[in-house]
Amino acid sequence: MLKLGVNIDHVATLRQARYRDATGERRVEPDPVAAALACEQAGCHGITAHLREDRRHIVDRDIWRLREAIRTRLNFEMANAPEIVEIALKVKPDIVCLVPERRQEVTTEGGLDVAGQLSAITETRKRLNDAGIEVSLFIAPDAPQVAAAAESGAQFIELHTGRYADHFHLKRERNDELQRLIAASKQAHGLGLRVNAGHGFTTENIPLIHLVPHLVELNIGHSIVSRAVFIGLDAAVKEILKVMEGYPG
Ligand code: PXP
Repeated sequence: MLKLGVNIDHVATLRQARYRDATGERRVEPDPVAAALACEQAGCHGITAHLREDRRHIVDRDIWRLREAIRTRLNFEMANAPEIVEIALKVKPDIVCLVPERRQEVTTEGGLDVAGQLSAITETRKRLNDAGIEVSLFIAPDAPQVAAAAESGAQFIELHTGRYADHFHLKRERNDELQRLIAASKQAHGLGLRVNAGHGFTTENIPLIHLVPHLVELNIGHSIVSRAVFIGLDAAVKEILKVMEGYPG
């Protein structure tokens, strides 16, 4: 069965739009932890949160509260930055997903250059694994990056599906990207990596993703939080789970 990890960053984005400077115990909404619990109730299999160095949405307290409250798996998305690595080692999420981070970007725009930073990533991978935390690397579906991810000793890769999602309505580009995802997933599986995928997924573009073999989990944020504005989180999560059903594996 294909699992669903819900990224609740954009619940925090909405909170920060109004309450960026709120301190102490004042109740501010919407609460990303309450949202995570609602997603679990709706049937998701994990919760993802990205503690960015600029703390633009999720803040430190959210991560600690998520660790305490959720009953599924916590996927801590982060840059390979010393300050954030130290936080992860203390929080002990179930899994860390290392992503590239640039201050000016709207969202995580590209994949991690594992091949170009192999020793730094391998060192962080070892420290996290030694603390009992699994490691995933968010990469573009490129053969050299998949090979480098395996060399780093990571347990998982997460294939960046942003290009697939962006080109979904351009048949040739979309099919080319689908072929790249299929090839990368097969390569990763052959090298002993487990494979997740994420970025830009919607109820419209998930059905074709069933053609990509060996997927363990999809990580989905923006479309679920956006749909929730109209139909509520429970229905938005269930709607996504529905189009994920029947994945052939
Ligand atoms: N996976 C990773 C590694 C991401 O950085 C993001 C975006 O924060 C997602 C999945 C979710 O992407 P989206 O919000 O487009 O569903």
